[in-house]
Amino acid sequence: RASSIIIPVAVHYPEANEADRVCLEALAQNQIDILNADYTATNSDIALWNSASSNYHGSNSGAANIYFCIATMNHPVGVDPDMVEGGPAVTIGYNFGGGGSTDATWGGYMNFLVKDIGGGLLGFSPLGGSITNGDSVTMNLGAFGSGSGCPGSGIVPGAPFNLGRTVTHELGHFYNLNHTFTGDCGGDDAITDTPNIDSENYGCPTPGSIDACVYDNALTMNYMDYTNDACMYMFTQGQASVVDAYIATIQPQFKP
Ligand code: ARG
Ligand code: ZN
Ligand code: CA
Repeated sequence: RASSIIIPVAVHYPEANEADRVCLEALAQNQIDILNADYTATNSDIALWNSASSNYHGSNSGAANIYFCIATMNHPVGVDPDMVEGGPAVTIGYNFGGGGSTDATWGGYMNFLVKDIGGGLLGFSPLGGSITNGDSVTMNLGAFGSGSGCPGSGIVPGAPFNLGRTVTHELGHFYNLNHTFTGDCGGDDAITDTPNIDSENYGCPTPGSIDACVYDNALTMNYMDYTNDACMYMFTQGQASVVDAYIATIQPQFKP
C-alpha cells in the first residue's frame, strides 16, 4: 500500500485477573511493539537475514506498510463490563458495546484473544479474517509477548516460542498468507517469491540448509513456517504485498 495505516487492536484476556491489569497492558504493548517491528522489517534480528539473503534467490525481505496500536480511541483503557459479568476477564483497549460471553470480541476491531486453548497448539487464526464479524487471532497462554509475562494470570511466554512470533505468524494468516510449505514439494502458497519447501520446518535449522524439493537454500527463516521464534525473522516482498492488498480490502470494515 502506498500510504501507511495504523490498525487499532483490542487485546482480550478472558481468563486473566483484574489485579494484573498493569502487567497485562504492558504485555499487550510489548506484543504490539514486536508486530510493528516484524511487519515493517525493522526487527533487530533482520540482520540475520541480511547476512544470509544472498543465498536465497529472489526471496528479498518484505515490509508491509502497516502499524498497530492498542485501541483506546474514544475511551480510556478499561474493562469491558460485559466481560466482567461473564467471569474473570481483562480487556486492554476499551471498545463500544460487545457480546455477553467472556470470549466476546468486537466487530470493527482487530481482536486478539489470549487464553488456554489446550496443549499442542500455540495459536490459530482464520485465513483471511473478517473485521466486521469480530474475528479474532487466538494465542495460547505461553505464546503471547516476550519477557516474564504476567504469572498471576498464568500468561507467561514459554521458550522457544517466547519472542511474540506466534502472533506475527497467525496475523499473517488473518491477512491471507498461507504457510510457505503449503502442499509441500508439489504445492504452492500462491506467492512467487517464496520457494517450494519439502515440508514444514521445526526447531532452528542452520541457514543455508538445502531443501529436498528445490535443491537450493531452504527458506526456513520465514514467519510462515513452524521454526522457533528466534529462527524466524522475515516475510518476503511477495508476502508483504499480499498483506497490504488484503488490508486494503478490509480497511472499510475498521471502526474510524
Ligand atoms: N499455529 C502454529 C502452531 O500452533 C503457530 C506456529 C507459530 N510458530 C512460532 N514459532 N511461534 O503450532
Ligand atoms: Zn500457521
Ligand atoms: Ca511460493
